Amino acid sequence: MSSDATDRSPLAEGTEHPFASVARLLDWGPMDEGARIVTPAPLEVDEATVETSLRPRRLAEYIGQTQVKQNLSILLAAATQRHEAADHVLLYGPPGLGKTTLANIVARELGVNIHTTSGPAIERAGDLAAILTNLDERDVLFIDEIHRLNHAVEEILYPAMEDFAIDVMIGRGPSARSLRLGLKSFTVVGATTRAGRISSPLRDRFGAVYRLDYYSPDELATIIERSAGILDVEIEPQAIRGLARRGRGTPRVVNRLLRRVRDHAEVTGDGRITATQAEAAMTAMDIDDEGLDTTDRRLLAAIVQKFASGPVGGAALAAVIGEEVDTIEDVYEPFLLQLGFLDRTPQGRVATERARDHLRGMGYEVPPPRRSERSDAGLWDGITTEGRTESETPA
Ligand code: ADE
Repeated sequence: MSSDATDRSPLAEGTEHPFASVARLLDWGPMDEGARIVTPAPLEVDEATVETSLRPRRLAEYIGQTQVKQNLSILLAAATQRHEAADHVLLYGPPGLGKTTLANIVARELGVNIHTTSGPAIERAGDLAAILTNLDERDVLFIDEIHRLNHAVEEILYPAMEDFAIDVMIGRGPSARSLRLGLKSFTVVGATTRAGRISSPLRDRFGAVYRLDYYSPDELATIIERSAGILDVEIEPQAIRGLARRGRGTPRVVNRLLRRVRDHAEVTGDGRITATQAEAAMTAMDIDDEGLDTTDRRLLAAIVQKFASGPVGGAALAAVIGEEVDTIEDVYEPFLLQLGFLDRTPQGRVATERARDHLRGMGYEVPPPRRSERSDAGLWDGITTEGRTESETPA
């Protein structure tokens, strides 16, 4: 797609918009998720090492998700008292909210080892059988992206979770027989961004199902303070608030913003993060007041400019911005929905008036929406004032 595919109104002469990207034409090529600062997607390997050092290790250190923490602490204390494996736990919610962190905390609180794998990594039933037979008594098996387990693997997991046993086929053909192999007791912690994609037999085998929600700005501010302490960096309260506001409700995002702002403060100042330093770093990274970056704005601008604000289906949107539908749904959309910038209707995604105002404020061309702005649109479409449909109305 050519780069002149987007219309931007020119900025008033002599005014320099704080965001350099406003003056730039949009590039409709594929998004580079790895280069994004505000992505809640998992981190590259070297960054992950720093991220790991910022993660809380015990439930008492974990900020936010109050209700999940309360329920989890009772579940873990009860299992510890009974010297039993804890019940299986399913964690679901948007990426970056702490599912992996909580899985590690579960193991630490129980005083056992954690074995980490993921749905797509377990290709064959035999792969899972090998993992299961290696677990020690009461160990935690963390399965990330559990909704991506294939059917054959899921079939092995059912008796393993329910009876701590697996059924192994011995031989082939008419003489084949099934042998039940006992396992040590263990706890599965499953994580998914897509609770709706988990089959109900698998879901039923979890004794506890917890939904993680976006963090409030106050919770994010506390997380930033804690992380700044670990990184040994001084940061002004106003800078903390600025980062928290742009943190998309996501600890992984605020920790990443903090590290980038720290770089900025070290290179351009004395290393102390002031409010001015933080603002300047955000501007340099093209992150706006709502925490949206060029990728988010490109997605919204595509809906507003290419599809007259929608509704647009996932496949059409994905084609225009050169992304996978799953990535749009898992990574970009959840926060835009939470922010009230997107609505999902049965006909597809719709950019809301808030999103249109935001883009307009940033200098984007915002053509009129195709849909009717009336809230009762749809119900009365095609109905005349006399109550007849248009086709019934005499010309
Ligand atoms: N770092 C990342 N997530 C955190 C959380 N929930 N609490 C404290 N520190 C964190």
